[in-house]
Parts: sequence; structure tokens; C-alpha cells
Amino acid sequence: GTVVLAYSGGLDTSCILVWLKEQGYDIIAYLANIGQKEDFAEARKKALALGARKVYIEDVSKEFVEEFIWPAVQANALYEDRYLLGTSLARPCIARKQVEIAQKEGAQYVSHGATGKGNDQIRFELTCYALCPQIKIIAPWRMPEFYTRFRGRNDLMDYAKKHGIPVPVSPKSPWSMDENLMHISYEAGILENPKNPAPPGLYTKTKDPASSPDTPDILEIEFRKGVPVKVTNIKDGATHQSSLELFVYLNEIAGKHGVGRIDIVENRFIGMKSRGIYETPAGTILYHAHLDIEAFTMDREMRKIKQGLALKFSELVYNGFWHSPECDYIRHCISKSQEHVEGKVRVSAFKGQVYILARESPRSLYNEELVSMNVQGDYEPSDATGFININSLRLKEYHRLQNKVTAK
Ligand code: ARG
Ligand code: SIN
Repeated sequence: GTVVLAYSGGLDTSCILVWLKEQGYDIIAYLANIGQKEDFAEARKKALALGARKVYIEDVSKEFVEEFIWPAVQANALYEDRYLLGTSLARPCIARKQVEIAQKEGAQYVSHGATGKGNDQIRFELTCYALCPQIKIIAPWRMPEFYTRFRGRNDLMDYAKKHGIPVPVSPKSPWSMDENLMHISYEAGILENPKNPAPPGLYTKTKDPASSPDTPDILEIEFRKGVPVKVTNIKDGATHQSSLELFVYLNEIAGKHGVGRIDIVENRFIGMKSRGIYETPAGTILYHAHLDIEAFTMDREMRKIKQGLALKFSELVYNGFWHSPECDYIRHCISKSQEHVEGKVRVSAFKGQVYILARESPRSLYNEELVSMNVQGDYEPSDATGFININSLRLKEYHRLQNKVTAK
């Protein structure tokens, strides 16, 4: 049968390609351009040389921004209070295109190089099953005939040499990386010991804040319906408006100032803790800017409900349930909540931090006259006496009882 393999050009998926061919499959290699730095032409040549019948290189970066990153920005999506979900958001986008190719090519099978211990296998496969229920998935890293043959990198290298697979010339970094437009992650290898700090030189998307510029960049970010539509650099007046272009620009500015680094231990869906290091430059600026414009324009009680939905959304995205009914429903609710989230936020990027400086909005719920210490506004101060009295009722009763009990 025909299999569409999610191919990265690296050692693992190159060996998988050849191994699948050995098992008798007809191979279509699929490489998503999701904003990572990569020699796509080289990867195409390599896949064909290894025996792929056809190679698809699909640029999904625009849909990644508009259909996956924007909903995450609207949600203020965050996993376990810190992780901005860069890899988690990319997987359903990559896998969606993969099943599209499989359907177009009449391929019965899809395959990927994710390990059997991680989140990515779940995200890939739940997406494939959701969008193409009859698809068959080949996950070599979960097949005994594969993983007993390839017990480590050395086995892969030996196999590569034997089968004419070009082996990486430069020694590979002693950790695994996953890069896309939104972030880069570093896991495994020498990072597996959580006691080891990241070695200097690991980071690739951000400057070390210790040696980043001594003057900030001040940006004005304009939102409409909770999504950035324009970014202006106050220094030179340069503006960026299309989604992809504006996101790339924010990555550049945030990266230059060392914004968006985290080093965490997180809970994988499969049930183990793992240590990960992430750089999410543009995503970090947008997270802070969006929180600010949302607080400015959204009703207090609506915001609380939306916050609960966002927590659930983040967990669903992390666990691979992007294409589930519940996630679909939550995205609709969140999108509805963003109707009036509009205006401009001024931020400073400086020494690894994002500072909010100011905001303005035609839809702000902020009433300067109402809140002012200098004018009365449409407000009766004496009303607050009753408000406080009624609210104190419960507290008085509670403490009356406490005092009675401790007096005994
Ligand atoms: N731990 C992160 C996540 O689950 C990043 C995973 C990185 N994936 C990879 N194949 N290196 O989203
Ligand atoms: C992998 O296991 O392939 C990478 C890590 C993860 O998916 O969580």
C-alpha cells in the first residue's frame, strides 16, 4: 500500500523512510513548512534519493498563524501556567495537511517519527483519525520489529551507512529540537537531568537578555476581535499588517531583546513528567499585549467564564484534542468573547521582558470619570455604605461563631 510519511529530513525519519520501503510500502514523503529554518530543496532531493516516489513540501505557515496561533492568542492559552503550546498547536496543523495528501493520493496509510512516550504521537494520530476515520497509522517507534532493531542513535547511524542514507556531518546537538514559526523546543539528551541548566549556546531564537540591547523597542500593537492586525515600531514608524508578516516581525524584535525563554518540567498527557526548554518570542509579546487589551474591553464576569474555558482549551490542545467537539465548541465561545476586544496596546521589549506601557480603545469599558478620585461621576458614594454592610453580614456571623468555639 501507499503511505504518506511525515518526513523531517533528519536521521530518524530518513531511516523510517527506507525501513518502510523495505517492508514493501510505496512512499510519499511529506514535509510541512511551518516556519522552521530548513533547506527544503535539499530535503526533497534526499527523500527522492532514499526512494520516495513523490515528495510534498507544503507551506502551512499562514494557516498555522491564522487558524491555530490566533485562537491561542485570543484564549491567552497557557499550559500549566507557563507553556505557550508552540508544538501542541503545530501538530494538528501539520497532520491535517498530511491526511489531505493521503486522501488526494488515495493512500491508505500515514506514518510519523514520534516516539511512543510522548505527546506528539497522540496529537498526530487523534488528528488523523478525526479527519479521516478509515486511515491506518504506522508508528514505527511503537512497533517491536522496529524498536528492537533500532535501540538508539548508533543503530540508526549503522543502518544509515549500510543503506546509503547521508548521515549528519556536523555532530548533532545533544538534545532534540522541534521548531516552527511560533517556537522552538529543546528536550531529551543532556537536558533530561533537570538539575542541568541549559548550556550557553543552546538558544537559537532569542538573544541572551544579559547582552541584549540597552535600549528597548517600543511597539504599538493594534487588535481587532482579539487578534493583532497591525504592529508599529515607535522608533522608526515601520508598520506590519498581514498576519504572517506581523508575526515574523514580532519574533525578530522579541528575539533581539531575549523575550520568551522558559525552562520547565511539565506533565505529558501519557503520564510522565518531562523537562523542556522553549523560546516563544512573538507569542510572549502577544500573550501580554492581548491580556491587557482584553482586561480593558471585556466585562468582569464574562472574563471569568472565558478564563475557565481557556484553561480547558489549553489542556485540550496540549493533549491532542484540537479536532474534538468540545474543543470546537470552546473555540466558538472564545471567538464570541472577542467581538469587542479591540484597540491599541503600547509595549516595550527590553532585557528579556515585555512591559505594558499604555493602551487605548474605542470599545473600552474603562470610565475615567466614574473611577476618578477628583470627580463624582454617575456614582453615589453613600450607596457604598450599604453595599459594604450587606457584604459584611456573613463575615460577622462567621467570626462570631469562631470566637464562640475558641472561647470554649
Ligand atoms: N513538550 C512539548 C509538547 O509536548 C514539546 C514537544 C516537542 N516535540 C518534539 N518532537 N521534539 O508540546
Ligand atoms: C516525541 O516523543 O516524539 C517527542 C516528545 C513528545 O512528543 O512529547
